[in-house]
Amino acid sequence: MQYDDNSIMQKDPLIDKILISSHEISNRISQLGTEISSDYGNSVPIIVNILKGAYMFTADLSRAITVHHEIDFMAISSYHGGTESTGVVKIEKDLKSNITGRDVLIVEDIIDTGRTLDHLLELFKTRNPRSIKICTLLDKSCRRVVEVPVDYRGFEIPDEFVIGYGLDYDEKYRNLPFIGVMKP
Ligand code: IMP
Ligand code: MG
Repeated sequence: MQYDDNSIMQKDPLIDKILISSHEISNRISQLGTEISSDYGNSVPIIVNILKGAYMFTADLSRAITVHHEIDFMAISSYHGGTESTGVVKIEKDLKSNITGRDVLIVEDIIDTGRTLDHLLELFKTRNPRSIKICTLLDKSCRRVVEVPVDYRGFEIPDEFVIGYGLDYDEKYRNLPFIGVMKP
């Protein structure tokens, strides 16, 4: 599907600019899909969609992956101390799948301090999967506090609060087809 990013943006005076267009997102996801498909040629990975932010990315990425894979969902909420996540995550909804002995690919919308994913990785490791990899659409690596191994990265972005393509501001703006920045 194609979107007119500019006309969508112009309808909302609170959006400052388009950081990554819907076209750029879709091109990058095709590349990631090709890479992931060739890396998982010999297994059926479980793709773990971290709700809510990664729902749109996961839907498009899944269609760009040409090898068999399963999809599961995990809903977590991170506790925030001030503006940063503390990494203390509450599991709102756990996986249905048993990941023991399986190849797991975690799909995230954005990695900021790294605390949330670090916590999740530790939890998943206790379930003894065969492998765990991380795919994130966006990486604000300049903000990293805890190192996390990122296997697939859509875009490196500057230290700005972004919205759209699944990411929210106060639960809104998830439906934008592009990644945008709010007006200060
Ligand atoms: P971390 O634990 O600091 O890596 O937090 C990552 C989580 O914070 C992401 O999964 C998002 O839910 C949220 N987050 C971080 N930066 C942004 C942003 O720019 N826009 C929207 N959500 C964000
Ligand atoms: Mg998130």
